[in-house]
Amino acid sequence: MLVLIRDDYETMSREAARRVATVVRRKPNCVLGFATGSTPLGLYRELIRMHREEGLDFSKVTTFNLDEYVGLPPEHDQSYHYFMWENLFSHINVDRRFVHIPHGMAEDVEGFCAWYERRIAEAGGIDVQILGIGANGHIAFNEPSSSLGSRTRIKPLAGTTREANARFFASPDEVPTHAITMGVGTIMEARKLLLLASGDAKADAIARTVEGPISAMVPASIVQLHRDAVVLLDSAAAAGLTLHYPE
Ligand code: GLP
Repeated sequence: MLVLIRDDYETMSREAARRVATVVRRKPNCVLGFATGSTPLGLYRELIRMHREEGLDFSKVTTFNLDEYVGLPPEHDQSYHYFMWENLFSHINVDRRFVHIPHGMAEDVEGFCAWYERRIAEAGGIDVQILGIGANGHIAFNEPSSSLGSRTRIKPLAGTTREANARFFASPDEVPTHAITMGVGTIMEARKLLLLASGDAKADAIARTVEGPISAMVPASIVQLHRDAVVLLDSAAAAGLTLHYPE
């Protein structure tokens, strides 16, 4: 695990984009795993800039998103479909046919989840998976106590996650109770992981992820077992770390 600490959010985001762009340039038909939340927004802005100004080409790239709320249609402004089109896909030349986001309105959820796993395998696996982290140590919507071997499935959201995300909805009751999420095992099969965290609200979760024991109570801590994981932090998110990590 490579822990990289940058002074601020913008520098961290640019470093993340540089790493993603390197993969896209080396392998134009690569498979990218995307995440939602406020943390990767700076990375997405930088990828858009690289597309516009440097011709970074996404036309052959396949994408898979980590998760989606159950019960929200793609056009709902809090759905992760909406988020991805609004904040990234509409601004780059990604081919709509190669974009995959879990379907929050799927009638046969189990069948959908099995199909999603098959699609990832058929695409050749994910080359680089971008991850954020919840203040409780979740990755995607794998909340504490999620099996570290889990696959794509439906999961209830933790009370604290619903509270954290309530700010985006008209009332707390409107926050969905469940999500479809890639499993921890699914995420671990990606060839590279790029976990981003910014701000002091994440410092405790990052300290437990990087320097704590591997535990289902901190699902992100499983990145310690990955062969090519980069944990990219701004200095506020790194504040709880005790070791010295070289630049
Ligand atoms: C959400 C998402 C996660 C994300 C996390 C942190 O609930 N399911 O994928 O990493 O919360 O979000 P933020 O980056 O806004 O802090």
